[in-house]
Amino acid sequence: MIKVAIFGFGTVGSGVAEVLDVNHDEILKRTGIDIEVKYILDLRDFPGHKFESKVVHDIDMIINDPEVLICCETMGGKRVAYDYSRRALEAGKSVCTSNKELVEAFGPELIEIAKEHNCSYLFEASVGGGIPIIRNIMNCITADKIESITGILNGTTNYMLTKMDREGADYAEVLKEAQDMGYAERNPEADVEGHDAGRKIAILSSLMCGKNVAYENLYVEGITSITSVDFMYARKLGMSIKLLGQSQMVGDKVAAMVSPCLVKKRHPLYMVNDVFNGILVHGNMLGDAMFYGAGAGKLPTASAVCADVVAVAQSMGKHLSCNWSAEPAKQMSVDDMTKQFLVRVKADSAAEVNALFGDVTYIDLESQPQERAFMTDVMSEKEFADCYAKLTGAISRIRIA
Ligand code: HSE
Repeated sequence: MIKVAIFGFGTVGSGVAEVLDVNHDEILKRTGIDIEVKYILDLRDFPGHKFESKVVHDIDMIINDPEVLICCETMGGKRVAYDYSRRALEAGKSVCTSNKELVEAFGPELIEIAKEHNCSYLFEASVGGGIPIIRNIMNCITADKIESITGILNGTTNYMLTKMDREGADYAEVLKEAQDMGYAERNPEADVEGHDAGRKIAILSSLMCGKNVAYENLYVEGITSITSVDFMYARKLGMSIKLLGQSQMVGDKVAAMVSPCLVKKRHPLYMVNDVFNGILVHGNMLGDAMFYGAGAGKLPTASAVCADVVAVAQSMGKHLSCNWSAEPAKQMSVDDMTKQFLVRVKADSAAEVNALFGDVTYIDLESQPQERAFMTDVMSEKEFADCYAKLTGAISRIRIA
């Protein structure tokens, strides 16, 4: 029997306890391994809860118990979660986590500590919720050079953008609805400003190149400036707007960023709607492979944590390696990345548009006679930013995927 401890009995932690309980016999039947939760570490008590008797408040009880071989870190945050994860690994206990903030900031260090103590640090649930994307990148697409990863990596913002697209609703309206539905937090900044997607594309980029891609060095733009008029242009062009994390190898550099993008109907991520996530991986031999599924939520995320628990349980006494070193990856400056843009301008801007961007074809909306839009050629972000700064009639711009 393998005994497990759960750090943090919040949404994901309680989901982990539920998955291991409800699917205990299924896991036993499929793997021959009997997995049981021995401790749940939390500051709170849970009187009357089914797992009340497993709740403890002292991390030392877990660290000093040789029976506990696997810890699930579902606390979130960086400080205490780092301390507890480190102590567990140093005691030779594997750690499986959903904590993308901690993984992004300390992944290579914690993987190295796991290696030194012959145990594992696994983080499937940190990206894509229940979608098995990390295991696929690390253990399945192993005969390829991965050349790019593009993803809809945040369920909350995808739900909001889908609603704006389908209902013509405005940003503030859908944010309130997402909060009322419990998808968006009361403080939605991490999701709507793109930080959550940024951390996830940083993790995926690191796994793509084997070195550390720091989130702090990424250009990250959220969805707070997207309006219902942007969606009117998108619809007229047969496109939608998605918050994309994009990462590409350009020579030995990683070009990664997060921003809202116009996505054409034929793009594989066009049909990824609502709270779902989609991740498109391009390998030099494989071509494209797309991973789609529940990108957030208690049970999908817990399912991914538990799949890591099973993976560790199936290879007890071995370190499960991960191609992610602490060496900083060479990251391409956003200025040098190239993109095409849709630019909205005041209706009387033709002369300056022509002077700055040359001959362009305009897209007009009957309902918005005071403005029009045009698409640029593919140009560098720097070249575009310089021209756009001079465009006095500019209203807004959005990248095209
Ligand atoms: N806030 C995240 C999302 C949760 O909406 O995708 C899953 O990481």
